[in-house]
Amino acid sequence: MIILSKVSSLRDALETHRVSKLNISLVPTMGNLHQGHLKLVRAARKNSDIVVCSIFVNPLQFGPNEDLENYPKTLEADEDKLREAGCDFLFLPEVEEIYGTSMEEQTLIRVPGITDGFCGTSRPGHFDGVATIVCKLFNMVQPNSAFFGLKDYQQFLTIKKLTRDLSLDISIEGVEIERNSEGLALSSRNSYLTAEELALAPLIYENLMEVSNRVLQGERDFRDLEKSAIEILKAAGLHPEYFSICNAENLKAAQQEDNHLVILAATKLSICRLIDNIRFTLPQ
Ligand code: PAF
Repeated sequence: MIILSKVSSLRDALETHRVSKLNISLVPTMGNLHQGHLKLVRAARKNSDIVVCSIFVNPLQFGPNEDLENYPKTLEADEDKLREAGCDFLFLPEVEEIYGTSMEEQTLIRVPGITDGFCGTSRPGHFDGVATIVCKLFNMVQPNSAFFGLKDYQQFLTIKKLTRDLSLDISIEGVEIERNSEGLALSSRNSYLTAEELALAPLIYENLMEVSNRVLQGERDFRDLEKSAIEILKAAGLHPEYFSICNAENLKAAQQEDNHLVILAATKLSICRLIDNIRFTLPQ
């Protein structure tokens, strides 16, 4: 695996492969890699000739009171894991390489509509930061495809929309959520949880499963189902931000006629904010 920190060397390194018409894929990450990330790398490995991963803790997507300074960093272990998973190039830029000296003057990409609500409400500016860095990485790597985890489902739809809206010729691939044996979706931020909180956190997925099963069995009072899931999570000591049954394409509140659904959940647990979702299709 070749490690590069400059955009110019990344471009040079990829140029020969592009000229040879090799298929290049990109897996953007913020590091502290777990099995969920490695699943993305393996999917990219399977579907392309050249796999590029990036590790960049993107300051632009963190709010002023968020965990930018404390975001877990495990670079040496990440490099070993990426080598083992078959990554060809690791792009590891410094903040200045990406944003120059003034991030305040950075041109932003804003993806309207899909970023309204949910994480867009509780993390103002977050999706502008994500869309901007992803767009910049797309321009630097010029991949044929890019792989993203479906745990961040609103992010996934945002990137799909930005790719479509800006006519980028990149196939956006979503990779299924990786969970621990209790059902908790893997996330770098799970390392903030105490043992007690780790024992509570799988309740989110249990509720997602319970509500999706009830909808699949014919219950259609979506708003009541949402309310009772929120009550259950609260009673267990979690602080749910949202638990919403939505149309899986546009994240609008699900209506009776929708059949591709997603249930989005976000919950605070002490300093940690956990998100998860479940997607399913109703029989016609
Ligand atoms: O999902 C993430 O880890 C980040 O939001 C991403 C896509 C790497 C952009 O910084």
